[in-house]
Amino acid sequence: MKKNIVNVYRDFLKDRVRKEIDFSQTDQCRGIKEPPIQKEYSFEQKIIKLPEKEEWNSVKDTSIRSAIQSRQSHRNYKDKPLKLDELAFLLWSTQGIRKKTDSGRVLRTVPSAGNRHSFETYLLIFNVSGLEQGIYRYLPLENSIVLEDNAENLSNCITNSSLGQSFLAKSAVVFVWTVIPYRMEWRYDIAAHRVIAMDVGHVCQNLYLACEAIDSGTCGVAAFDQDSMDNLVSVDGSDEFVIYMAPVGKVT
Ligand SMILES: Cc1cc2nc3c(=O)[nH]c(=O)nc-3n(C[C@H](O)[C@H](O)[C@H](O)COP(=O)(O)O)c2cc1C
Repeated sequence: MKKNIVNVYRDFLKDRVRKEIDFSQTDQCRGIKEPPIQKEYSFEQKIIKLPEKEEWNSVKDTSIRSAIQSRQSHRNYKDKPLKLDELAFLLWSTQGIRKKTDSGRVLRTVPSAGNRHSFETYLLIFNVSGLEQGIYRYLPLENSIVLEDNAENLSNCITNSSLGQSFLAKSAVVFVWTVIPYRMEWRYDIAAHRVIAMDVGHVCQNLYLACEAIDSGTCGVAAFDQDSMDNLVSVDGSDEFVIYMAPVGKVT
């Protein structure tokens, strides 16, 4: 019995599901409108414009070779703030826009199956210069962040929601990635979920590498209480839910 269950989970990693799908019947092929590439926000919310690339004065010209060599998971952070240009650089590295094509396609700094990009980035801000503590969300199309919640007691909430992993609350900012699966399902139906899991690894890997250019460190965190994390960032847990997170803080 146990073996059967294990095989079901193993099958999730295989690409057999592709043969079960009638791709002529996906929502995309049936002409259903494409879902938005970025979640909406209200103009009544506080929006903070991020520094543009030319203003990223704190970001060092680290070589890709040294970044790959030095990358490691960091769980101890200095009690120092991250600067806003450093945060802008990390957000661009993980979900930012690298190009808009003439045909209107938006290409990002990370790869994604079919360029579907099914993630949103929430930020639990503890110590970033010029920003009040709270929960924010990245708006890649506007190079801005939007304040979602002032969130009282954020430290305790994230420690409890991450099953007691107390190093998260000692970081400057926790990146929390949610997934909106329909963005991928619209094209790939039930073949969407395997590639979503692959996509999010690319995002976090770029965060590890980008941290090397700003004397900072991170640690991918996949162990958390699902309902509690979904509640913390106010998502419904079905059409959008937390998939992965990573605290960032200064390490030198
Ligand atoms: C998918 C994934 C999930 C992880 N989840 C956690 C976690 O919940 N808590 C934690 O402390 N580290 C977590 N880690 C970090 C790993 O423990 C770490 O990458 C591993 O020990 C290797 O160390 P290195 O990254 O320094 O090479 C995770 C890493 C990955 C890639």
